[in-house]
Parts: sequence; C-alpha cells; structure tokens
Amino acid sequence: MSHHRKGTDTMAITLPDLTPLENTLWLTLAGKALDYQAKHPILHDKTAYDIVRKLDYDAGQFKLSASPVVGIAHRSLVMDNIVRQFIAKNPDAVGLDLGAGLDTRVYRVDPPTTVEWYDVDLPGVAKTRQLLLPERPHLHTIGSDLNDPRWISEVPADRPAVIVADGLIGFLSKEELATLLDRLIRHFPAGEICFNGYTRFHVWAAKKYAGTQSVVPFLRSPGFDTPQDIERLEPRLKLVREILLGREPEVADYPWTTRLANFLTAWSISISRKGTAVQHYRF
Ligand SMILES: C[S@@+](CC[C@H](N)C(=O)[O-])C[C@H]1O[C@@H](n2cnc3c(N)ncnc32)[C@H](O)[C@@H]1O
Repeated sequence: MSHHRKGTDTMAITLPDLTPLENTLWLTLAGKALDYQAKHPILHDKTAYDIVRKLDYDAGQFKLSASPVVGIAHRSLVMDNIVRQFIAKNPDAVGLDLGAGLDTRVYRVDPPTTVEWYDVDLPGVAKTRQLLLPERPHLHTIGSDLNDPRWISEVPADRPAVIVADGLIGFLSKEELATLLDRLIRHFPAGEICFNGYTRFHVWAAKKYAGTQSVVPFLRSPGFDTPQDIERLEPRLKLVREILLGREPEVADYPWTTRLANFLTAWSISISRKGTAVQHYRF
C-alpha cells in the first residue's frame, strides 16, 4: 500500500510500499487516532490523529468499535507510564520500542537527553517513520526483523533498559519470542519489559471473529494465558505486575458500553484476562 501525503502540507511525500505484515501498524494507529477523537480520550495522541488525517487514511475501515479503541489506547498509556517510571529511576536508561509501527511513544514520554531511545521495526516501517515523524536527538530508528540477531548490536549494552512491545508478541511464534527474550536479557545488565498479553482466547477470537482484519494471517503466537506462562518460557523474567485494564482507574473515561462490559467482568481475573492485559516484568 503506498500513501501519498495529502492535506495542507507544502510538500507531498511518497511513502514506501509496505508488506502486509508491516501494514498491521495501521490498525493500532487508527485506534489511537479514533481515541483522540473520542469524547474522553484515554491516550490523547494528537500526532497519531494528525498522521491519519494528513495521509487521508480511512481509520474507519477496520470498523473498530469503542472497546478495541479504548483497549489500544489504554494499553499504550499503561506502557508509557511504565517507561516514565523506569526512566525516572534510571535516567541513564536505554529505551526500546519493539515493533514500534508508527506509534509516537518517544514523543509522548519525551525522555530526558540522558536516555538513548531505539524504535525497532521492519525496514519499510522504519523508513516510513523517518519520513513522517520528526527527528530528535538521542532517537534512533532501526529497520530490521526482530528475529534477525544482528540489530541488537546497534544498541548500547552497558545501561539498564526499558523495553516495550506494544501489539507485537502476537506476531511471534513461541520459539521466536523465547529467542528474542533471551537475546534482550543477555544484552542488558538489567531492565524491565512490558507488552500486552495475547491469551489463547485472544488468538482464537481474532481468528474466528476478525477474519478480514489485516493482522489475522500473521498471528503466530500460541497465546499465553497467565503471566506465569511467560516466566516459564523465560525464567529470568520476574513478574512486576499484571495490569488488567478493566480494573484500572481510566475505565471511568471509557464509553458507557465498555464500562458496562467491564463492570460485569472485572470481578474475575480469568474473565478480565480475556480483555486487554499488560504484563510487566523485570530481569
Ligand atoms: C499491530 S502493529 C503495532 C505497532 C505499534 N507498536 C503500535 O502500538 O501502534 C505491529 C508492528 O509489529 C511489527 N512487526 C511484526 N513482526 C515483526 C518482526 N518480526 N520484526 C520487526 N517488527 C515486526 C509490524 O511491522 C508492525 O509495525
């Protein structure tokens, strides 16, 4: 899919053709743009909205209802806050956004200049980021498949790391996830990692009910039902917290339909996990 910048910009930019896997970035970007337009935005990501508007991208094509939109926005907010807290304690940190898509985390979090930040995604996405998002000092963009062992050598290995994988791990097989976690943990002296969980229910439901959506053919994760499943996969990871979004205070800003669904399900951990959860570990 090739996008030409439209709108009021003085210069038209031709973006690279993205592969179908790279194109999965639009679903979450659309979610963040729709959140920005909501009555009570959760993430308030104006840049996501501006990109979608300038590209004249049809964010409505995914037919995202209120519940996935708040899920996408809220999980990003939770991961932003984990990054903010880590950086407050470790001002010399390295920040890593794995499978960054066109997400604007580094601009939202706005880390101090002591932090080196790396956005990693496939080459077409990395090029697109560089065309659409502003440069800033200490921001690095790496265009690589995360399954390729070479990319990590570009990242300093002597600093604590805060690592985010927002909307990524569903695309990795169990073996690929284990290899990636091992590579990250061996590279850094210490750190924290967070990602939104994909349970077996999520994988099943996505395949059954979201068959036309762009992400479905690429969901390769078997699904992990509990945070302990990930600890068993990589025993050097220790759970800091499982954040079940339906139990967080931001639910007060959800549209009433989603609030009602949360009210009915938040009493049960196993049912809440069928909503969106963010898993937060340290190593
Ligand atoms: C659903 S999007 C999420 C994007 C972004 N994190 C967000 O929250 O908006 C998934 C992203 O993961 C990237 N991705 C999937 N598999 C990858 C891999 N093996 N290596 C690098 N990036 C990958 C895709 O290119 C895409 O940008």
